[in-house]
Amino acid sequence: MTERNTFTLDGEEVPFEPGQSIMNAALAAGRYIPHLCHNPEFRPHGSCKLCTVKVNGWLGASCTTPATKGAKVESEIPEVQEGRRAIVQMLFIEGNHFCPFCVKSGDCRLQAIAYHLGMEGSHLPHRFPSRQLDASHPDVVLDRDRCIACNLCVRASREVDGKEVFGLTGRGVETSLAVNSPSGLLKDTNLEPGDRAMQVCPTGALMLKRHGYETPIGERRFDQQAIEAAWESDY
Ligand code: SF4
Ligand code: FES
Repeated sequence: MTERNTFTLDGEEVPFEPGQSIMNAALAAGRYIPHLCHNPEFRPHGSCKLCTVKVNGWLGASCTTPATKGAKVESEIPEVQEGRRAIVQMLFIEGNHFCPFCVKSGDCRLQAIAYHLGMEGSHLPHRFPSRQLDASHPDVVLDRDRCIACNLCVRASREVDGKEVFGLTGRGVETSLAVNSPSGLLKDTNLEPGDRAMQVCPTGALMLKRHGYETPIGERRFDQQAIEAAWESDY
């Protein structure tokens, strides 16, 4: 009989296929590892580093690290969780995230992960960057204040919609989401409300007009369940 390929994640066995990343094997087995720039539908981007785990004692991004037989992977340990909390704190101070007023509150992965990690404050001075809001499209708003440069809309537009509506420009904290049109505005693209790019944003950066409050705050998915239980609901 052929022996199964498995590694342990926080002490529990997880099966994997050859070539599969630790992240995708864990998600396929129903195990949650915090992540923001990853969605198993797309090639990994490896930029947010929130999915960092300890593999045989070494830290690495689980979305880009291949699973190996017998590896000891540690995720929910204080050292790793503290690193993730620092990353999320940085994301909050780099942008303008005002959760109580945000149309995405209760449905936002960034907010839900902050709760998952026990983040009680940013502990760092906020940058309050000046970013451009684009409400030029008849059906879509792009609020760059909430963008975390995860690249998911870029990949979805290119790989699923076949459009290349979005791209990332700049580096580090200056990275921002660009719109590929002569004016740089969404109104001059062929973006449509039903595009996959409109469904993958983990925050409230890309929103449909006139639909924001269809589900009242308090009844949204991460209001009902923590992200470690509800992470699968929009894949
Ligand atoms: S708009 Fe949303 S999906 Fe696109 S890069 Fe920003 S946070 Fe990611
Ligand atoms: S989820 Fe792995 S680096 Fe972002």
